[in-house]
Amino acid sequence: MKVLVIGSGGREHSIVKACLQSQIVGEVIAVPGNGGISQDALCYSGDIADNSAIVSFAQEKKIDFVIVGPEIPLCNGLVDALDEVGIIAYGPNKVAAQLEGSKSFTKRFLQKYNIPTALGKSFTEVKEAISYLDTQKFPIVIKASGLAAGKGVIIAQDKNEAQKVVTNMLIGNAFGASGSEVLIEKFLDGEEASITLIVSGKNFINLPASQDHKRIGEGDSGLNTGGMGAYAPAKVVTPELFQKIKEKIITPTLDGLQNDGIDFKGTLYIGIMITNDGPSVLEFNVRFGDPETQVLLPLLETDPIKLMHDCANGTLNPVDVKIKDKSAMVVVIAANGYPENYLKGDEINLPDDDTLDNVQIIHAGTKVNEQGKLVTNGGRVLGITALADNLEEAATAAYSVCEKVEFNSKYFRKDIGHRQLKN
Ligand code: AMP
Ligand code: GLY
Repeated sequence: MKVLVIGSGGREHSIVKACLQSQIVGEVIAVPGNGGISQDALCYSGDIADNSAIVSFAQEKKIDFVIVGPEIPLCNGLVDALDEVGIIAYGPNKVAAQLEGSKSFTKRFLQKYNIPTALGKSFTEVKEAISYLDTQKFPIVIKASGLAAGKGVIIAQDKNEAQKVVTNMLIGNAFGASGSEVLIEKFLDGEEASITLIVSGKNFINLPASQDHKRIGEGDSGLNTGGMGAYAPAKVVTPELFQKIKEKIITPTLDGLQNDGIDFKGTLYIGIMITNDGPSVLEFNVRFGDPETQVLLPLLETDPIKLMHDCANGTLNPVDVKIKDKSAMVVVIAANGYPENYLKGDEINLPDDDTLDNVQIIHAGTKVNEQGKLVTNGGRVLGITALADNLEEAATAAYSVCEKVEFNSKYFRKDIGHRQLKN
């Protein structure tokens, strides 16, 4: 089978590596890929937001199966466009992708089906939003409803700040069209975890629970990022808690989708806050998490590409799945300054592959420049991923490679996994 992977991040590099190990994949190519993906697969430039260009490319290259990594093409209906010409693609269709593309749509869905989530209300008019703030307690959470690359969520400490944020989003165009509707919701306290499901209608497979580290600084301080590191399985999701999540969140979500006539096929990532009152939905994503993918795919004994292909085909069989009895950790190495301003173009030196024992170097923001040198090309540059018998060993292995990676603006958090490792 000839597979096309769409995207250019760490998630897509992990998916390409899984393709190389898959029995069902004969050849893998990527659009647009990155510096690391280009060492593993042929990469072609292309605008992944242009459905007709991608469809023509897939036809021209005689692609059998497309795996769509990021949310933008999913929300743009790329899977629908490929389906129209008979090319099987992994990922939800445009209607189903609204679960990520519109936080207001999702809040209405969660409320309709009584699925636990923070109390919230959506606004398009600044006056109404500001009078609603007069009745609220602080801190409060303000979210741009549309896609904002993980940056559209602000926790406002007081009314003054909240008014400014709402005004900036609705009038000041802070997040462009994504902020033309805002969701104001109650602040929830607790520990976060993510549940990743491969869903095909009513059938689903749950991958190990994971925990991301969204803040840039150690001890979870500073600005929100796309994710600075993750590990799985996250033991904070005990079997009892998972049962509760299944009963109160997963089952009513899949039933609700069916009831609304939404045929969901693809990844459903559920961001959960574990509060004193139980698990509560923070967000849905309709694609694999980045960097969570880097720890989830290596934990699968079963071929993840086969699971994705079966899912897209409507033949997913949940009993077939085997998970390794191991732990995985990914430490993201970023360019200093991320998530604000940072330099690109730093030359990167990596340790030799044959010195890596159960460690994968996953590329995110890298490229090979005109001189053939590997250089930094984004905020999150690399994800050092280790698989080991337990989380302590995974951390030791991942951090020993982090120390050996060299580039000028290198920055990484030293405390990935801290919540579980302290116990
Ligand atoms: P989201 O993209 O909706 O998951 O939000 C990004 C991050 O903002 C989450 O991972 C949480 O850390 C935080 N967050 C979102 N909603 C809430 C909430 N209602 N209460 C507290 N923190 C939140
Ligand atoms: N790491 C969180 C996300 O992919 O949205």
